[in-house]
Amino acid sequence: MKQVAVLTSGGDAPGMNAAIRAVIRCGVAKGWGMYGVRKGYAGLISGNISPMGTRDVGGIIHKGGTILGSARCQEFLTDAGRRKAIRTLRQMGIDTLVVIGGNGSQTGNYELHQLGFPVVGIASTIDNDLCGSEITIGVDTALNIALEAIDRLKVTASSHQRAFLLEVMGRKCGYIALMSGIAGGAEYILIPEVETDPEEVAETLRLAYEHGKAHAIIVVAEGAKYNADALIHFFEKHEDRLGFKIRATILGHVQRGGAPGAFDRLLASRLGNGAIEAIDRGEFGVLVGLNKGKITTTPLEEVVGKTKEISQEMVKLAQILD
Ligand code: F6P
Repeated sequence: MKQVAVLTSGGDAPGMNAAIRAVIRCGVAKGWGMYGVRKGYAGLISGNISPMGTRDVGGIIHKGGTILGSARCQEFLTDAGRRKAIRTLRQMGIDTLVVIGGNGSQTGNYELHQLGFPVVGIASTIDNDLCGSEITIGVDTALNIALEAIDRLKVTASSHQRAFLLEVMGRKCGYIALMSGIAGGAEYILIPEVETDPEEVAETLRLAYEHGKAHAIIVVAEGAKYNADALIHFFEKHEDRLGFKIRATILGHVQRGGAPGAFDRLLASRLGNGAIEAIDRGEFGVLVGLNKGKITTTPLEEVVGKTKEISQEMVKLAQILD
């Protein structure tokens, strides 16, 4: 009988609870012993691990965050920390680990795999920058939260002939900014992957004003060279020639705290089941993701140390539509 532990790591994402639920329930359905690890890799090192059954994951599918907790753990970044984590797992009789998380979390997972411990990863991050899955758990919900903010800003912006800057999450990847900007009809979108001259943004605003627009929305990813702070500084100097007054809103962690929508609940449930099926097949050291509508596994070595590229087709579309 297999003994499988599951943890969530890195930034939480709406839908993580649905994934935990699916892992536990699908594992129980196979007759396996299932365990939950608290506070990510920190809990793995300290042994903060307990058995979990079907009822322990009841009433959580609709909740954001993660009932297991998450942490960024310095000790796990060391070889000694990782070996300690494996010792803890073995002492408890656990033979497989499932890690729900994004890039950093799957890198840690891969390190355990390289040390000989059987692992499986589940793709989860609001950034959608993880290779091996076209879309990750949490993205859709976070995107809808950003979109709601854009729609609301538009309403107030029109009343005051203002331009609004909305900064959304994404340190290295502009996915949320690009997709919410297109869906929200933004006048300009700034992302880390595309170099932007603030003069060009100013010119777009000026033209929008000349064409009689009542509002202008600029969506910027936190990791763009000109983020909200840098742009506001630039625009304040040039307000007279823009025609709009500028206000900035930084959405921050509001994006991560939402209740998962239907898409994320279903994706998380499918990926959770996919992880259990991969373990049942004896397939380890892989990331379970969604590609071309199907649940797939990709070796972790092809996933870690990379950032998924932004779609050039969507970048072009944004340029045409804004
Ligand atoms: O990885 C998800 C993410 O929300 C990024 O978009 C953001 O840059 C980062 O986490 C913020 O991390 P923290 O919650 O540690 O401030």
